[in-house]
Amino acid sequence: MMRILMVCLGNICRSPMAEGIMRRRAQEAALNMIVDSAGTADYHVGDEPDHRAIRCMRNHGIDISNLRGRQFSTKDFEAFDRIYVMDATNYQNITKLANTEEHKSKVQMILNELNPGRNQPVPDPWYGDMTDFERVYEMLDEAARKITGSIVSR
Ligand code: 4NP
Repeated sequence: MMRILMVCLGNICRSPMAEGIMRRRAQEAALNMIVDSAGTADYHVGDEPDHRAIRCMRNHGIDISNLRGRQFSTKDFEAFDRIYVMDATNYQNITKLANTEEHKSKVQMILNELNPGRNQPVPDPWYGDMTDFERVYEMLDEAARKITGSIVSR
């Protein structure tokens, strides 16, 4: 059973989208996977995802309206096998909370699944428009399909 946590800044745009997409791709591959998401910040604890994120995901047939924001906790280092972050700032904020190399090694930038070592970010769509949310969806879906494929073929 693989346990995957998706992390961004607010946990209302990128990481809840990543959570919904990853869960769907795992279901399609009949993979037993626990998927959750969290934010490095506490601004949106208890909030539903941004309405643009909900709409973008609904356009792709995935309902994320039931998700609620929560902040990352150091307990998540034990509760999850992999912690995927969206950008370099998320990476710094999460890895500085890690007390062991094992915990630190669980943290990866999600687009490194597609382009290893490039440290390419999933751009924050918060100040953007629906085009930016759609671009985020496409990036995250490609990464989620890669992750699912690499687990299936192990
Ligand atoms: P997210 O986007 O990290 O993808 O959820 C943001 C959401 C909220 C804020 C910034 C980014 N904010 O500043 O409140």
